Amino acid sequence: MNTSNVGIDALTHAIPAGLPSVEELAQLANQLFSQVPGSEGSMAEHLQAGRSIGSTGGAGLPPALPVRPNELDPVESYVPPEAATQGRYSECELAKLANQLFSQVPGSEGSVAEHAQLGRPSGVEVSGAPFAQALPAKAEPAAIIVPVGFDVPGVEWNDPLHGLDLTSPAPAGYALPYSAPAQPASPAAFYFVDQLSPQGRDAYGPIAGSAHPPFDVYAVRRDFPILQERVNGKPLIWFDNAATTQKPQVVIDRLSYFYQHENSNIHRAAHELAARATDAYEGARETVRSFINAGSADEVIFVRGTTEGINLIAKSWGRQNLVKDDEIVITWLEHHANIVPWQQLCAETGAILRVVPVDDNGQVILEAYERLLGPRTRLVSFTQVSNALGTVTPAKNMVEMAHRYGARVLVDGAQSVAHMATDVQALDCDWFVFSGHKVFGPTGIGAVYGKAELLEATQPWQGGGNMIEDVTFEQTRYQHPPNRFEAGTGNIADAVGLGAALEYLQKIGVENAGGYEHELLVYATQGLNTVPGLTLIGTAPDKASVLSFILKGYRTEDIGAELNRAGIAVRSGHHCAQPILRRFGLETTVRPSLALYNTREEVDALVSALLKISGGGLNLQG
Ligand code: ALA
Repeated sequence: MNTSNVGIDALTHAIPAGLPSVEELAQLANQLFSQVPGSEGSMAEHLQAGRSIGSTGGAGLPPALPVRPNELDPVESYVPPEAATQGRYSECELAKLANQLFSQVPGSEGSVAEHAQLGRPSGVEVSGAPFAQALPAKAEPAAIIVPVGFDVPGVEWNDPLHGLDLTSPAPAGYALPYSAPAQPASPAAFYFVDQLSPQGRDAYGPIAGSAHPPFDVYAVRRDFPILQERVNGKPLIWFDNAATTQKPQVVIDRLSYFYQHENSNIHRAAHELAARATDAYEGARETVRSFINAGSADEVIFVRGTTEGINLIAKSWGRQNLVKDDEIVITWLEHHANIVPWQQLCAETGAILRVVPVDDNGQVILEAYERLLGPRTRLVSFTQVSNALGTVTPAKNMVEMAHRYGARVLVDGAQSVAHMATDVQALDCDWFVFSGHKVFGPTGIGAVYGKAELLEATQPWQGGGNMIEDVTFEQTRYQHPPNRFEAGTGNIADAVGLGAALEYLQKIGVENAGGYEHELLVYATQGLNTVPGLTLIGTAPDKASVLSFILKGYRTEDIGAELNRAGIAVRSGHHCAQPILRRFGLETTVRPSLALYNTREEVDALVSALLKISGGGLNLQG
């Protein structure tokens, strides 16, 4: 058959009577795919095209689809971020394409995945295949797959991305407060073709590039392979971003590339791999510098994360500079990591810890803050975004106020770096700390920024290799910062991975992502407020990412478990911030937290699940 001119109808008629085999479906999908303007080759080739050579995707392509052989030299295989984000089709899209085609076959029911399962011995699952991953586990009655951005009359409550519950009506009182862009509704209009064809891409603009392109969440999602995971039979919805973020393929590939081609200890040896590893590590330091707009890469120290960063400052600068009756000011919002090291320092030195109260919305009371500042205030340490409530503190103002009293200021950026642009020079803070894993990088790596003259005047907190200039039994001379603060072999590969994550976010544009997320936060707040009995904890006008709440009559851990059954990951508990929850009379909350890859459809699924729970769908009242 000459497929190039074959329309949907003709393809439909080409399906043999009865249930097609997985091979036939694969061929059919290939035929359809070949009609996408500009497409070449099979679905399998396109799946392969967005990956680094050597990875077949691992998701189990249908056997009839040819897989391109690994023909390139593995050294060339590292796929730069541009290649991973431009013009690639995800399994999810291709699966939906096949499923949409299939849904037009007269008399067809269920998804391609279900049909692929038919005819196999029971116990042999195909759910690992890409088709299955993107499709609803059960599509009864006939699946309504609503193209993103299309307005289908009579369908207001849907999850076009995941197909979670396509047939249930919108809960009463919950109207979707956004309107999709006006586009023609047509059964033959495939949104993924329109969006991703060269013409469609022009409309959205490229995701990678330096000119802050329009934000396309569906393009971003394709960069995060884990978002196609299924949990408890449901598509994963990752709303635990305040705990940790997921990693884009470029970070995964970068780590793998490091261990395949660069791995060595740094700074120490006269061989090629040491040079490669050192270049990669110092390159990542420069990327951190640029990401936070520090004046020099020497102001950037790699640490395990925010907790280690704050401990570093407490146990180096703090021990060196604080004495009895000096005062340290923190706020009621702080994570335990920004409380305990200062308590320990106070116990050691006799310094006094003072805590700025927050109002009932969860915002710092600036008048009270000002009253706490005084000639004995040596240090102010506060978070830029509260991990428990999402409050964005007036950081620049607070830094400026502290400096007026001659205090040094540490800003905890753990929860802010992924959601807003960081500019340590504009903030004028003395230190800024953050964790890589909260900003799409690996765990176990983070950074401390410190003003150059301050770091230069600070003694190291750990001694050992890498941080010395000269050692005799009588005395040791230390290196200059940052090496002085990086004793021992650090987390080299993950520092490099962090660099890749920050470059990725820079290409998207942090403000771009932050603007999108803010709209999503507003949307989610409106949705959660429709759930009877739900109280949001943390309602400051300026918030980022976090939606902490309690639901009357239900324990937070039960809500977390129930949401998990629906594939929705949230944190429930005290969020390592017990004082601020107790300020609101609580020990725990449920805490969904958003990132740049979350969608309105996922928010709808969360609200829908909570409406079911609050309507008596959870028998665990207590
Ligand atoms: N600090 C992390 C959180 O808020 C672990 O969940």
